[in-house]
Amino acid sequence: MPTHCRNKLPGIAKIELKLAPDIWHWQYTKGVLVAIITNIEDLRVLHQKRTPKMFYDYADSGSWTESTYRANESDFQKIKLRQRVAVDMTNRTTKTTMVGQEVAMPVALAPTGLTGMQHADGEILAARAAEKFGVPFCLSTMSICSIEDVAERTTKPFWFQLYVMKDRGFIERLIERAKAAKCSALVLTLDLQILGQRHKDLKNGLSAPPKLTIANMINMMTKPRWCMGMTMTPRRTFRNIVGHATGVGNMSSLSSWTAEQFDPGLSWDDVEWIKKLWGGKLIIKGILDEEDARFAANSGADALIVSNHGGRQLDGAISSIKALPGIVNAVGKDIEVWMDGGIRSGQDVLKAWALGARGTMIGRPFLYGLGAMGEAGVTKCLDIIHNELDITMAFTGHRDIQNVTKDILYPGTF
Ligand code: GLV
Repeated sequence: MPTHCRNKLPGIAKIELKLAPDIWHWQYTKGVLVAIITNIEDLRVLHQKRTPKMFYDYADSGSWTESTYRANESDFQKIKLRQRVAVDMTNRTTKTTMVGQEVAMPVALAPTGLTGMQHADGEILAARAAEKFGVPFCLSTMSICSIEDVAERTTKPFWFQLYVMKDRGFIERLIERAKAAKCSALVLTLDLQILGQRHKDLKNGLSAPPKLTIANMINMMTKPRWCMGMTMTPRRTFRNIVGHATGVGNMSSLSSWTAEQFDPGLSWDDVEWIKKLWGGKLIIKGILDEEDARFAANSGADALIVSNHGGRQLDGAISSIKALPGIVNAVGKDIEVWMDGGIRSGQDVLKAWALGARGTMIGRPFLYGLGAMGEAGVTKCLDIIHNELDITMAFTGHRDIQNVTKDILYPGTF
């Protein structure tokens, strides 16, 4: 289905042209050139084309050899589906709940750092797309737009993701700000007290805002839309932190301020402290091990997310989808289990659901959409995933996601 990626051109009434094999289709209709986007990969390609290299690379990379990053995706591919025929496929629904909140499908937008550098005001645009679609948006501590920026420009409560820093006074204030903004859940990330090394970020000199080096300026000159957006917005630094935290040295560099500020001494006692301070729905993110899953369930949290941080932390760890069944088996009766990592289609969402995940989070897919086309790109990403989820569910013989179980998976492939 043609979508909103437009370039104005005078002249000819309608042409279709293919710019690169199997990737680019443009349709020229009513004076505009429209990119035909049909899957998440199309959005990724457009994101890469339109966003400065350092920010695209930040999103689309894993740590060290990136083996876990790749496994997150490739392990989904190994799981095969059972096709069923001659079953009623009318009136389908993918609706469910995540920590009691009604959602259009079991998908939430994951907290991703520097989202407002993929596209000007990125967090606000993604939150708006999510609320219109009926899925949760989770704002990262490391966002560019602040909690207040997003709250002022949205109409429904969003979730806030917390990293624990050494300055506990700052954490208390951050939690108070999330409460004041009426955030409806706190997502506490436990797997990033130290930062996994991502070679590209070091080589690119990742910072927000980007330093005006010759190389960066030459690269930015090839991204006029991005530059235009960034010129028009005042939001270009880590606005949850700048002006709120004291004694932070080099604020623009993610690696130096995580090294300075994040607390490597974080423990389950801190989780208990945060749970009490917050007092609302708590989701624990970054669980990959069954023993840790038991601690998370015992902590009284409402949900846990099976996650290796998109392959960005411990390279060599198993993929999230491989870790999921063991964790569901261990604690699925005691706590809602979700997963993230490697989802690139609605088929992946359905496979995760079939293996017991009651929710999923997508990070890169929505960032691709955002970098490609702003809010419309995030909506496009959600449309694509929902459509793939819905049609795949029908092919496997189901009309209601609540009835989908492991039975839809081909034995021996999961
Ligand atoms: C932050 O969440 C990161 O992975 O960089």
